[in-house]
Amino acid sequence: MNRNQWVEFFEDLEDSDVEHPLSSQKHLQRKRESKKNETDARLFVRAQELSREFQFTYKAARFEEAWLLDSLFDIAEHQWISDVLRKVKGGKEASVYLCKPGAAIPNTDYVAAKVYRPRMLRNLRNDGLYRQGRTDLDTEGRQVIDDGMLHAMQKKTEYGRELLHQSWMAYEFTSMQDLHAAGADVPEPYTLSNNAILMEYIGDLDGSAPTLSEVGLDRTEAGALFERVLRNLDVMLTHERIHGDLSAYNILYWDGDITLIDFPQVVSPRINRHAFRIFERDVKRVCDYFSQQGVRSDPKSLAQELWTSHGYNLPREKPEEEE
Ligand SMILES: Nc1ncnc2c1ncn2[C@@H]1O[C@H](COP(=O)(O)OP(=O)(O)OP(=O)(O)O)[C@@H](O)[C@H]1O
Ligand SMILES: [Mg+2]
Repeated sequence: MNRNQWVEFFEDLEDSDVEHPLSSQKHLQRKRESKKNETDARLFVRAQELSREFQFTYKAARFEEAWLLDSLFDIAEHQWISDVLRKVKGGKEASVYLCKPGAAIPNTDYVAAKVYRPRMLRNLRNDGLYRQGRTDLDTEGRQVIDDGMLHAMQKKTEYGRELLHQSWMAYEFTSMQDLHAAGADVPEPYTLSNNAILMEYIGDLDGSAPTLSEVGLDRTEAGALFERVLRNLDVMLTHERIHGDLSAYNILYWDGDITLIDFPQVVSPRINRHAFRIFERDVKRVCDYFSQQGVRSDPKSLAQELWTSHGYNLPREKPEEEE
């Protein structure tokens, strides 16, 4: 099943849940219905084939099961996972599943699979802001230099959008690899497939770690964790990475420690011309959360200090509006 078929499939799935303001457009509806039937048929044939070789404990709905098989089959075949136990969270861009590791990941009880929704690209508004200056990556994390591929991405053809999707995932995965190796508090990434990232699971069998936004901290702990986040920002700048969507919603809290997650929109402080503005926003969101926990700070000067201490230049004038 290619990416566009998946997009249509999900659109149909979502349309059935919401009131459609254009429901009078019957012909469009009929066209969609026949497409849906065709798509469903293909989806289930493939899912049936794959399910002979990979069965999992999680009782997924019919469509979800087919989507999981399509996204996780390769990972299972290469022994990265042996079972899908349950859904941890359904996010805007991806759903995260608790899995049992396979032989390729010994001495680990659980792993997390982040499985992307095909609509990911559309949901990521303002993608131009993050892609500014970026070189796109292929599924192996290598720079795309092929003219045909570059052209498809520029024109956003069906193939191009598939490549862009792969590039976002590759950025997320390679950033996690580099930052984990550099000692940042990020989940250990294990492998990347066509539509999923397999990584260290934060939590236990009873539940995944809450995000910082879901917990209140006492003043002393908040102070220590704030310093910890600043240390992570520092490591990230050293490794030429800005998170790009950092806030208390993308920091997990477990056993008194923090873990930063959700990296598809990382940007480079050297290359992206909006980098400082993106960085400043990350710092401000973090400071906002910690000020609610009793830790006072000055986000503007903090961002500037961190930025200049790594030798990066501050933008001279007010940056242009978002693309
Ligand atoms: N490694 C992990 N271990 C445990 N839970 C995780 C892990 N990664 C993600 N989660 C859970 O899944 C949720 C969604 O993950 P993430 O933020 O990466 O995806 P997302 O689709 O961008 O979500 P959202 O749109 O809600 O930000 C997180 O808020 C967290 O609760
Ligand atoms: Mg998130």
